[in-house]
Amino acid sequence: MKILVTGGTGHIGSQVITELVKRGASVRALVRKQEASTTLPKGVEVFLGDLLDPVAVGKALDGVEKLYLLNAVVPDELTQGLIAYDLAKKLKLKQIVYHSVFKVEEFKDVPHFAAKLAIESALREFDLPFTVIRPNYFFQNDVSLKDALLKAGIYPMPLGAPGVSAVDTRDIAEAAAIALTSDGHLGKTYNLNGPEILSGKKVASIWSGLLGKEIRYPGEDLDSFEEQMRQSAPSWSAFDIRMMFQGYLERGFVAKDGDIEILTKLLGHPPRRYEDFAKETVEAWQPAAERQLQPV
Ligand SMILES: NC(=O)c1ccc[n+]([C@@H]2O[C@H](COP(=O)([O-])OP(=O)(O)OC[C@H]3O[C@@H](n4cnc5c(N)ncnc54)[C@H](OP(=O)(O)O)[C@@H]3O)[C@@H](O)[C@H]2O)c1
Repeated sequence: MKILVTGGTGHIGSQVITELVKRGASVRALVRKQEASTTLPKGVEVFLGDLLDPVAVGKALDGVEKLYLLNAVVPDELTQGLIAYDLAKKLKLKQIVYHSVFKVEEFKDVPHFAAKLAIESALREFDLPFTVIRPNYFFQNDVSLKDALLKAGIYPMPLGAPGVSAVDTRDIAEAAAIALTSDGHLGKTYNLNGPEILSGKKVASIWSGLLGKEIRYPGEDLDSFEEQMRQSAPSWSAFDIRMMFQGYLERGFVAKDGDIEILTKLLGHPPRRYEDFAKETVEAWQPAAERQLQPV
């Protein structure tokens, strides 16, 4: 059985490929650059193509039985997703596992959620067997906060008081691989949440404890957050992410009753804890952290 994986050079897709290979699956990865073949696990078939090109996507899907569909957050995310979905439907694949997002139907005002909701709607309307995974906010987003935490001493993500049930990307990749390689997942939608509610203040206090210095949570000024994001991201993306955090604050992004139990059963172990991820991250940063903690 061959599985086509999209997004295989990214954070999640690369881990999904590793988990699939671990489980003995035969994998083809749709990638945009030939160099990807040097970083993918041995034995993975590399297919060069772009998700915006139906001809390439059709050829990539030819001869596979299943599709793991992950789309990047880009302005044409909906078109990319539907091209892959429509062609998978035409070729009558046995299963598509679609990488969506938690609470997608309650965030219709957030562009990248709205794209995913439209793709999920197509999945539910037509007859291609599907499994949907809906991950919460990734722990690993916070790896990019090294300078904010170590230099500025702040945890800047506006998680607010309601907080989020953020999840470890390793659990997401395992869940996707299990859904693709074992029975009983067709027609299912899995919410992928971490085991605790993480408010802005709580996450700041976890980092304070681990770094041995005060990490401040500056609160939720979304106008300045968006302005700050525009320094390093396109303005449409800064707006999209701002709307997502606004939704977190207004509507919450916390696991529903039963979500953790279902995920624990799916994975065969409880979902990973934020504090453990943060500890590993501090260890990985150790030389820099040590420099920061040197008395002056
Ligand atoms: N971050 C979060 O907290 C969070 C939470 C829930 C859900 N999500 C969802 O998770 C997804 C992001 O996953 P990620 O972090 O693994 O993404 P990522 O690291 O940004 O990787 C994106 C992947 O998509 C590929 N890609 C982009 N445009 C493409 C195109 N036109 N044709 C073919 N491939 C293309 C990229 O390939 P190249 O290497 O060629 O660029 C890369 O492999 C998004 O859908 C996001 O909404 C994120």
